[in-house]
Amino acid sequence: MTKRIEIAPSILSADFANLGREIERVQIGGADIIHIDVMDGHFVPNITIGPPVVASIRKTTGLPLDVHLMIENPDRYVDDFMRAGADWISVHVEADVHIDRTLRYLKECGVKAGVAINPGTSLTSLQEILPLADFVLIMTVNPGFGGQKFIPSSPNKIRKLREIIASNGYKTRIEIDGGIGPENLRKVLIAGAQIIVAGSAIFNPRKDASEAVKELKGIARQRIRELKVD
Ligand code: DX5
Ligand code: ZN
Repeated sequence: MTKRIEIAPSILSADFANLGREIERVQIGGADIIHIDVMDGHFVPNITIGPPVVASIRKTTGLPLDVHLMIENPDRYVDDFMRAGADWISVHVEADVHIDRTLRYLKECGVKAGVAINPGTSLTSLQEILPLADFVLIMTVNPGFGGQKFIPSSPNKIRKLREIIASNGYKTRIEIDGGIGPENLRKVLIAGAQIIVAGSAIFNPRKDASEAVKELKGIARQRIRELKVD
């Protein structure tokens, strides 16, 4: 199992009028990736941003942009998001009928290809495509909104996926998204999560975003130290 743990602030909870400054703050705190939530009002009951905003964000940071497509027919839009500067793209297994083709295409284009999976969807739906995916994004809340409560059965799902990946010798990494903060980060890391998305725990009016990232990075570092001794 890889001993790298990355923190990916989700800009969904950031101040959109000051996005450049918000991204700068998390970068100062040591963010590894910027997570961008794209919602279409169909696949999820919310609408967020599209390729032009991703292109603007691209100009403000050198960090990898991780674009999470919570949209129907994501294959129709991946070119637009790649052109806008996405480095990682995840499509939902529930939303893409031809997901094998989409993942192969993303990889051919040199983008990290991810498959996202809702809390109510079984891991068995990943069986055929797991070897193709650079990462799996396990939703630990039902997608659509920031600030929701972490679903308690999630660590079990993470653990199961980690075992499937390890027993098959795949290189697929595990990203998790939803309801993560300093209070439950350790638990999901022990379960096997490697890329941690956090929105409201970082972009929170009661906290400085850079300090919030530093706190999560500190918990991740502690876990890496433990893995090295194991
Ligand atoms: C939810 C989004 C998440 C969201 C996480 O549908 O995919 O990325 O921003 O927000 P928190 O960390 O507040 O649950
Ligand atoms: Zn997301």
